[in-house]
Parts: sequence; C-alpha cells; structure tokens
Amino acid sequence: GKDGYRHYMEKELHEHPVVIGQTLRRFVNPVTHKIELPDMPFDLKTLKRGIITACGSAFYAGVIGRYWLEEVARLPIDLDVASEMRYRNPPFDKGGMGLLVSQSGETADTLAALRALKQAGQNIISVLNNEHSSMARESDLVLGMDAGVEIAVASTKAFTAQLTVLACLTLVMGQERGTITSEYADECLTALLDLPSRVAEILQMQEQIQKMAHIISQVQSVIYLGRGIMFPVAMEGALKLKEISYIHADAYAAGEMKHGPIALIDNTVPVISLLPSGSLFEKTLSNLQEAKARGGRILVFTDAKGAERVKGIAEQIVILPTVHSFVTPPLYTVPVQMLAYEAALLKGTDVDQPRNLAKSVTVE
Ligand code: F6R
Repeated sequence: GKDGYRHYMEKELHEHPVVIGQTLRRFVNPVTHKIELPDMPFDLKTLKRGIITACGSAFYAGVIGRYWLEEVARLPIDLDVASEMRYRNPPFDKGGMGLLVSQSGETADTLAALRALKQAGQNIISVLNNEHSSMARESDLVLGMDAGVEIAVASTKAFTAQLTVLACLTLVMGQERGTITSEYADECLTALLDLPSRVAEILQMQEQIQKMAHIISQVQSVIYLGRGIMFPVAMEGALKLKEISYIHADAYAAGEMKHGPIALIDNTVPVISLLPSGSLFEKTLSNLQEAKARGGRILVFTDAKGAERVKGIAEQIVILPTVHSFVTPPLYTVPVQMLAYEAALLKGTDVDQPRNLAKSVTVE
C-alpha cells in the first residue's frame, strides 16, 4: 500500500534516504569502512575504456557516472542512449567495459544494446534494481541496488540508488587506478554515508518546493540549466516535470544557452538553475544574469554560500544543505523530483500513471 501517502511517487520519494543507506550497506564493509565490490570481469588498473548506455532516467544516472568515472578514475567513457548505441556500431577494442543502467532490467533497447556490446567483445556490468531480470541473466556482473519495488511510473528512488552504486564503483576504480588518494576516497565515502540525513532534510522542505511549483504550474514551458555534473541532474528534472505534470521542460548545459535557447527567454519561461557553490559557480551565475537581463524569471537550487551570491537576481532560492562536491548529484536530484511531483499535484494529473507511459518499456 501507500502507507498513508497520497501517491506511490510521494511514498517512493520519501524512501530516498533508506534506499541510499541500504545500497551503501551492500558495498561498504562495516568493520574496515572500505567499499568492497564483487570481482570485476576485467582488471580495473589496465582498463582502457568504458561505454555507458541506458534509457530515460537511467541514462541520466549513466551520464553522471560518466562525469565521475572520467574525472575521478580517469577512465575514458563513451556514452549514448541505448536506442542509438545499439545501431551506432562504433569501433571497439575488445575487453572494454560495457556499463548498463536499468531499474527494471527489461527495457528492450537497453537489453539490445547490452547484446550488441557483448557481441563487440565488451565485458558487461549492469547496474540493476531487478536482479532477476533479462539483463541480469546476460551480464558478466550485476551490481545490484536496494531500492525495493518501484511502483510509480516515474522513477525516483531507483535513480538515487543507481547513483549510489555508480559512486561506489567510481571510488573503487579511482583507488585501484591510483587516481585518487585514500584520504579523498574516505572523504567521499563519509559524504555518501551522510547523504541519507541530508536528503531527509530536503524532504522536509516541501513548502518551499510547493512555492516554486506554484510558479511553474502556471507556465507552458520551463528551462533547466546545469553545468558540469549538474547538467544531467537538470535533464532528470526536466524529464520528470514533462512526464508527470505535462509542463514542457528542456535542460541545457548552462554554457549552451547563449547558442540558441536564450531566444526563448522572457517572463513566461522560468529558468531553474542547479547551482551548488564550487568551481563552476561563477560561470553559471553569469549565464543566469544573461537570462535575467532578458526578462527571465530565475529560480535557483543552491547552498547557503551560493544563496548569498544569487539573491540579487533570483525570484526564489531554495537553500539545500552544503555537502561535499562529490555527492551533489544525488542531493540535487531529490528537490527536482519533488518539484515535478508538486507541480503535477497542482495540475491535477495522474501522478502514478501518467498518460502514454508504461513502467517498463519492453517494446523497441
Ligand atoms: C523516468 C522513467 C523512464 C525510465 C526508462 C528506463 O521517470 O521512469 O525514463 O527511466 O524507461 O527504464 P529502466 O531503468 O527500467 O531501464
């Protein structure tokens, strides 16, 4: 049942902290406090290339995985949605890593991409919620998560669980490949272990998120902006908003806005920015100033330090907990999913069963 929540989606949103914690417990040795993964089908030290593919939200989790694996573990990653990857026929060296991400493990295009990658001599690792699925059976290694059953059509908790698994994989790879110090790995792990509490704080920020939902539920179209690893989180926010509230939303890499999308901006197209303070903050802030100068309404998710800098231009700021930069993707995901949910409530749509969508897309 829904345990007193109005929708499965609301219930599943509230399961984020537990699911992240459980998934970490699967991989973190409680005695040594080290991340331990099952034996890999290749040598992490000499691995030359990875390829990540998935569909929809699972793809955005994969995009975040790419930023992590490239930046932290210095592993070159190719990336595409499964429906393209399976037909692209790119050149491969044998023995690379084919990394698939799927909640259901049954998505037709992702399964077909898995088979194509296997055919091309890649070692298949799948990050799956359903460990008894078709993809599980055909993978060399399954990295499972503990998200439990997801009933709402729009994915929520499985997404942060996928990120938790990908974060563990990244930290293990970084250490094996000698691209990070054990101090850095410990810092990141501490931040991951702390994440359930920080996410629980965000789940209490419903009123502020409702306020933002009021603004966007009155418009036809919304632009999400994110730079670097916040770009795929922006894509997740835009997809979720479209899916369940039917409000049109597009995500752009913040720096790309001036190459076209800025033409859309006026006071009817709010700009939502995911803006944790850090090295990319100033650049993205100037993109927001450009949008503001064209009459855009600026809505911002940031931290306390970022809020100080952005308060002159933003119509609304939601201040999220300050966390280690490594864990900003799962943290910023939670409020954008909540925003989609609150906007859908205001629009009166069928939140758990949005029109035209199925939970598991087993046709191509
Ligand atoms: C978004 C959503 C879909 C799925 C996609 C892949 O809320 O639910 O975009 O993420 O259909 O599904 P899985 O992860 O089962 O392969």
